[in-house]
Amino acid sequence: MVSQTLREARKYEEAMETGIRKEERPVFHLCPRVGWMNDPNGFSYYRGEYHLFYQYYPYDSVWGSMHWGHAVSKDLLHWTYLPAALAPDTVYDKDGCFSGSALELPDGRHLLMYTGVVKEPRVEGGFQDIQTQCIALGDGRDYEKCPQNPVLDARDLPEGGSRNDFRDPRIWEEEDGTYRCVVGNCTKDKDGRILLYKSQDGIHWDFLSILAENKGRFGRMWECPDFFQLDGKYVLLTSPQDMMPKGFEYHNGNGTLCLIGDYDKETNTFTEECDQAIDYGIDFYAAQTLAAPDGRRIMIGWMQNWDTCNLRDTEHVWFGQMSLPRELSIERGRLCQRPVRELERLRRCEVRYENVAFEGTIQMNGISGRKIDMEITLHLEEQGKTLRKFAVRFAQDDACHTAISFRPHESLLKVDRKFSGSRRAYIHQRRSLVHVEEGDLKLRIILDRFSAEVFVNDGEQVLTITFYTDQSAEGISFFADGEAVMDVIKYDLE
Ligand code: FRU
Repeated sequence: MVSQTLREARKYEEAMETGIRKEERPVFHLCPRVGWMNDPNGFSYYRGEYHLFYQYYPYDSVWGSMHWGHAVSKDLLHWTYLPAALAPDTVYDKDGCFSGSALELPDGRHLLMYTGVVKEPRVEGGFQDIQTQCIALGDGRDYEKCPQNPVLDARDLPEGGSRNDFRDPRIWEEEDGTYRCVVGNCTKDKDGRILLYKSQDGIHWDFLSILAENKGRFGRMWECPDFFQLDGKYVLLTSPQDMMPKGFEYHNGNGTLCLIGDYDKETNTFTEECDQAIDYGIDFYAAQTLAAPDGRRIMIGWMQNWDTCNLRDTEHVWFGQMSLPRELSIERGRLCQRPVRELERLRRCEVRYENVAFEGTIQMNGISGRKIDMEITLHLEEQGKTLRKFAVRFAQDDACHTAISFRPHESLLKVDRKFSGSRRAYIHQRRSLVHVEEGDLKLRIILDRFSAEVFVNDGEQVLTITFYTDQSAEGISFFADGEAVMDVIKYDLE
């Protein structure tokens, strides 16, 4: 049974979609069918296709009462919209169907686990969110909310847990066919923690343990957890709110955090060994992963940040994009990310230059475009020690450009969108310490109309930014203060 609220949303998105030209959307990054998008939800492989749901408010390009939008893809790059999957239409989720995840049950049904939100009046005035976990079951298109909902509520919280911040369940199946989920939570004084639950059937859940606790280290509330095994280690991803910078890590306010360690299944304890940000640019949050049928662990995130949502194109009736799906691995104890290999199939028109030595500003034949995959290898050994600054400017015309620059003496890489059409003094730059190996710095830059994702040194770090300059600004130039020597390979992406 499709509720009235969902029926209206489906009708609206279908009608509005026709007003958006293909050229107004990114090519291989998912944006909302219409209106607003935030977190990726229910990222899963089901019946031969990748499914990606998203936090969705169809009626305006700002955050509103949360629905789940829905799209499917065969290659993680070309997405087809399906009708919205969930709407806030029951007593336990009337104020929003917040983030969650998905998996396939043994009987072939697709299970969605999400957070139901209800606003309750506070005695002292105003309202407070009450958050519970809920289930919907479906066939990959239509979903029925479970009569048992909510399946986790305040009674399932360990001592001191806040029922106002209890959200974003991430479910998975264990080898023995039982299920686990992690849920973001915080204590009454807003200190983030991740709760672990267990279920035999995906519907009835029991509390197992507090898997990880912030203890004041990384921001406050921890949102959108994910937990999985990777290359012999265990990885906990979460997006903490209100982070404080630490050196060159965690500059994003609403940030991303990756904890790598070990997990003891007997005692349900996670032992942390190290921490890092997931993304070092400006626009990345609320990452979620899936295990692909071929064994790859693939992550996608909201290519946006709550701190910078006001930097937008007022012409568009949509707002928000997903990042490129990224293949994960652990290398030398750190999380590594590479664009999904499917992207290579979109490459056309190779342009290649080797050992280009230059000073000042240059442009190169065949190097331009706003939908490109470009790899630059900067040879730092060969150019003596004279190079003080290297920069790539792209999405460039007379008035605008977006830039990446590198200062070898400080080992600092910077993304900069100060000159990318913004009339406001928002955050436009982010600097990141990079580590230069064997004298080379490798930058793989993926552009898709409104974004740049910079993969540093084969995925050791990624810096993601969005920008909304005119598509005719498609120039690319290189700058060197001192002498630079570089290789460049560039492909158009179609
Ligand atoms: C993260 C988040 C989630 C929540 C959702 C609401 O960006 O705040 O914690 O479920 O967005 O849209």
